Amino acid sequence: MNRLNLLQFYREFLPVGPQTPTISLGEGFTPLIRSRHLGRQLGLENLYFKFEGTNPTGSFKDRGMVVAVAKALEEGARGVVCASTGNTSASAAAYAACAGLPAVVVVPAGGIAPGKLLQAVAYGAQVFAINGTFDRALEAAVELSARANLRLVNSLNPHRLAGQKTAAFEIVDELGDSPDYLFLPVGNAGNISAYWLGFKEYRAAGRTTKLPRLAGFQAAGAAPIVLGRPVPKPETVASAIRIGHPANWDSAVRARDESGGVIEAVTDDEILAARRLLAKLEGLFVEPASAAGVAGLVKFRSLVQDPRAVVVCVLTGTGLKDPAPGFDVESRVYHVEDLGQILETLGLEVSPRSSG
Ligand code: F0G
Repeated sequence: MNRLNLLQFYREFLPVGPQTPTISLGEGFTPLIRSRHLGRQLGLENLYFKFEGTNPTGSFKDRGMVVAVAKALEEGARGVVCASTGNTSASAAAYAACAGLPAVVVVPAGGIAPGKLLQAVAYGAQVFAINGTFDRALEAAVELSARANLRLVNSLNPHRLAGQKTAAFEIVDELGDSPDYLFLPVGNAGNISAYWLGFKEYRAAGRTTKLPRLAGFQAAGAAPIVLGRPVPKPETVASAIRIGHPANWDSAVRARDESGGVIEAVTDDEILAARRLLAKLEGLFVEPASAAGVAGLVKFRSLVQDPRAVVVCVLTGTGLKDPAPGFDVESRVYHVEDLGQILETLGLEVSPRSSG
């Protein structure tokens, strides 16, 4: 099967030319899954999930990273550098490996999920854990990019947002028009800005007739945009969005206001409840941060008045990198001595022993 290549498929909307190497790990073209259960519970007839966990490193970051690293390669960069709460570093490390470039990543010490740290190491990045928050790690990465001549691949690099806007294109291509609402988590605020860019570019190109309202959600303990001021010590179980001073703050606020949308806060309990709902009701296992948009939809259900409105929730990453939060596995596993105990626990009617 000939798998589509994201850089080529959307090239007329991307900063790529004949000189740009078309690297790929199979990013993008993620499934838009129609809700079978949660939508009904919420009284929404057209609820969809854009599941970004199927990207090669397990998150939406791969869409932007393939563009940023291809451009770094094209422009002869010596290597790439980023700060990260985990997913960006995993993605940068993977695409740098693919491009044959060295990667340097700076993460907040103790602040990222073990699966993400492991990915960065596995893909061969040089990993530095710095005391303090993501915001401090980002300052270090920006400084390193200038002083060590490494290409910064955080979302301050416009190629990242250019790549991430392809998710908006895919949604429109699949639905035939923009949704009425887009719900998503907000951390460093690059993704909400990128989606808005994508929907607006598609409308300018005549590929969609309308624009969605954006509904972004921060974790309550890390909600600078909601509070209107930086949060020096952000706290939340959703480590991916534990950010107190988002780099794309202004563009996120613009996207919110231009779209007639909202940016609100959801608590850790609400995030973990949404994470459990997605897994149990829909078969979608996402990381805590990725459940924030759905937590927002549950909490602020009244934002969507028309039951027939088309609502898309972006699920930004797989649950496998940070599996534990929200699940008490031990209490849900029965330890048994034999088959008899299993049958007894299930309470099922038993037929005679099968002969085969
Ligand atoms: N969801 C996940 C799984 C993320 O990893 C991130 C951000 C977000 C949502 C928020 O997106 O920052 O564009 O508003 N992760 C970054 C990182 C910060 O370093 O991996 P955003």
